[in-house]
Parts: sequence; C-alpha cells; structure tokens
Amino acid sequence: MAPWPRRPRLVAGNWKMNRTAEEAVALARQIVEAVRGAPPCEVVLCPPYTALESVRAVVRGTPLRLGGQNLHPEPRGPHTGEISGPMLVALGCQFAIVGHSERRRDMHEDDALVARKLRAALRHGLAPIVCVGETVEEREQGHTPEVLARQVAAAYTGLASEDALATVLAYEPVWAIGTGRVATPEQAEEAHRLVRDTLDRAVGAGVGARATVLYGGSVTAENAASLFAKDEVDGALVGGASLEAEGFVRIAAAAGR
Ligand code: 13P
Repeated sequence: MAPWPRRPRLVAGNWKMNRTAEEAVALARQIVEAVRGAPPCEVVLCPPYTALESVRAVVRGTPLRLGGQNLHPEPRGPHTGEISGPMLVALGCQFAIVGHSERRRDMHEDDALVARKLRAALRHGLAPIVCVGETVEEREQGHTPEVLARQVAAAYTGLASEDALATVLAYEPVWAIGTGRVATPEQAEEAHRLVRDTLDRAVGAGVGARATVLYGGSVTAENAASLFAKDEVDGALVGGASLEAEGFVRIAAAAGR
C-alpha cells in the first residue's frame, strides 16, 4: 500500500447493519446524484456486505469509493460467517473498517485481533480505517489518554511508516456513537493530538502529523463544520447521518471546505 500523498479530507459513511441491497442501491444513487460527479472530498461508502456488489455498480465510474465494515485476518478458510480481504477487493472495495467499538463490544475483538486485521487489510491492498476510542467510564475516570495510547500502540507498533501512512484512523468515543452526544471540537482536537503523538512513538517521529485522522460519533450536517474547523480533524466516519443522502453530502461538503 502506498502512503497517502498528503492528508486527504475524507468522509466515510458506515451504514452498519442497515439497508437491504435494494435499499442500499437507492441510497447510493441519491448520494451519487447529490455529489454530481464532483465530491467535495474523498467519499467512501461502507454498506453491509450483502449490498457491496449492488452499490459497486452504482458508484462505478464515479469518484465515490467503497469500503467493507470489517475483514477477517486470514485470507480464506474455515471461518463461518466471516469475510476476507480478497473477497472485499474482488467486490471493488478500497477500504475496510477495523476495530469498530461495536465489534470490540459485540464480537469481543481485542487490540491484538485489531492489529492482525489492520495488517491483513494492508497485505491485500485495502486501506484500513482503524477505530479507537474510550468509553464514558474511561473518560469520566480520566483514562482517555492511556486508552487511546494503548489502542493505537497495539495496532501500529512494528509497522513501517509507509504502511502506517496508508491507513486512516478514526477517533470514535464510544459515548458519542449513536447517542446524539457529539464530542466538542476541543475534545476531538485533544484526542486527535493524543492519537498523533502515539503514532510518533509507535511508528516514528513525524508520522502523527502526516496521518489521516477522522472523528466519528453523532456527526451531523449541523455539527460537522465546527469539528472540521480544527486542523487536527481530517474528516469524519459517519453512522446514522450517512443513511440520508442530503445530510451526508452536506457533511462531505463541510469537510471539503
Ligand atoms: P453515529 O454517527 O451514528 O454516531 O455512528 C458513528 C459510528 O460509529 C461510525 O462508525
């Protein structure tokens, strides 16, 4: 994987377990129409696996990119219900979300597994979108810095800087996901600095400043611009608000400015 030439502005829609293939096509069409061939920044759609093929047909020939919501660390084998990097690549994906807090919680994914998935994504030519973030208890107890440092170090230690710079990070505080309680721009800025500082220590000096770091958690068309006004915030990983084309495209427009 080649590193990003410079920090791109990037907005990714994580549709989670929403939309059948048919519904996903309708949503993707609305997004394609709303950006009118010229998205204001890098835009990535991450529909459920069952809709990847049909959404691919909609975004083909447009600048919109496709991502998976997860991948298994192995390329194939006896792993019922899983999806592999080569399968995502064959469906036209260029990205894969790894370490989302919902998978850490629901599927008991730990830091070591997230590190393996990150490497698997890179091996198969997918840019991993690596999610980190603290719970409300961790924040209230003042543990946010150490939680972010642990999660980022576990995922990135031992990576070459070119590989680290071919990834995207997403700071997603668990307490902000799906709650309507968005982090303040200052909270996001501070957390992104912690993420970048950890990258400098885990991978090499200067890597943090060059890494692409998104914010995720209750991002909407209304609050996006204030988050993107912070230099530390390179874009967003959007859940609920990515299921409605007009609002999602407004978020991308705010990132592009
Ligand atoms: P919401 O935007 O719905 O809070 O979800 C954020 C998220 O988890 C994106 O991955």
